Amino acid sequence: MKGIILAGGLGTRLYPLTKITNKHLLPVYNRPMIHWPILSLVEAGVRDIMIVTGGNFAGAFLQLLGNGKEFGLKDIHYTYQEGEGGIAQALSLTENFVDRDKCVVILGDNVLEKSIKPSVDQFRRQEKGARILLREVPDPERFGVAELDAKGNIVGIVEKPKEPKSNYAVTGVYMYDEMVWDVVKTLKPSGRGELEITDVNNAYLKAGTLQHSIMDGWWTDAGQFESLLRANNLVAEREERESFASFLPKDTAAKK
Ligand code: DAU
Repeated sequence: MKGIILAGGLGTRLYPLTKITNKHLLPVYNRPMIHWPILSLVEAGVRDIMIVTGGNFAGAFLQLLGNGKEFGLKDIHYTYQEGEGGIAQALSLTENFVDRDKCVVILGDNVLEKSIKPSVDQFRRQEKGARILLREVPDPERFGVAELDAKGNIVGIVEKPKEPKSNYAVTGVYMYDEMVWDVVKTLKPSGRGELEITDVNNAYLKAGTLQHSIMDGWWTDAGQFESLLRANNLVAEREERESFASFLPKDTAAKK
């Protein structure tokens, strides 16, 4: 299983915080934002990780993370997205790295309270297709929203609907098999000029191979002033209870 963290884009919604740095390097309580999705992957047993970055400050990721030693990793792979072609476009840049393997993708500005290991393990056992994580939210119009039937099956996903059909947001944790590379090649830019991850998920839905889990614990993005503040407060409260990184060995030097 490969892990992908998407940390491209220009972070314009956080300007001027992002004038001289990348959004994913801003602090979320006691760590730079990008640490949280890395920790989520490593805790779930995913150790083969590629980060997609972009913009003017891409070099700073290497300075910050190096080869991932402090996460107990042997190395971290990096690639670069020019411009802001969308989440699915950023994902398409990782095809050679993932190859025919399965992958878990996390958006670089998503922060999660709890482990994703149970869902990742379910996906390891899933024969084929995709798995997404849903979470009930009070403001679904800010997200991709899943419409569910009476049995709780997903019947459609709409990106930022004006009139959401449910309160279930599609979180920024996505798991795909190798079909994803065929799907991304068929995508057309949306109204906002991006290749949308929602279109990828709807392609799996159409193929009858989209599974989902309901996310346990809180979840937030940190891409706007309000959500960045919320992420800081939620992480502070969680870290004061128990450090999420406590699973890391005391000496996190990478094993040779
Ligand atoms: O946070 C979950 C939501 O993320 C989902 O519910 C939506 O369906 C999904 O489209 C996305 O919505 P946003 O509009 O909030 O995504 P945003 O443009 O803020 O991008 C989120 C992260 O994705 C960002 O931190 C870095 C990465 N990204 C984004 C773009 C547009 C890239 O790597 N490259 C890109 O071109």
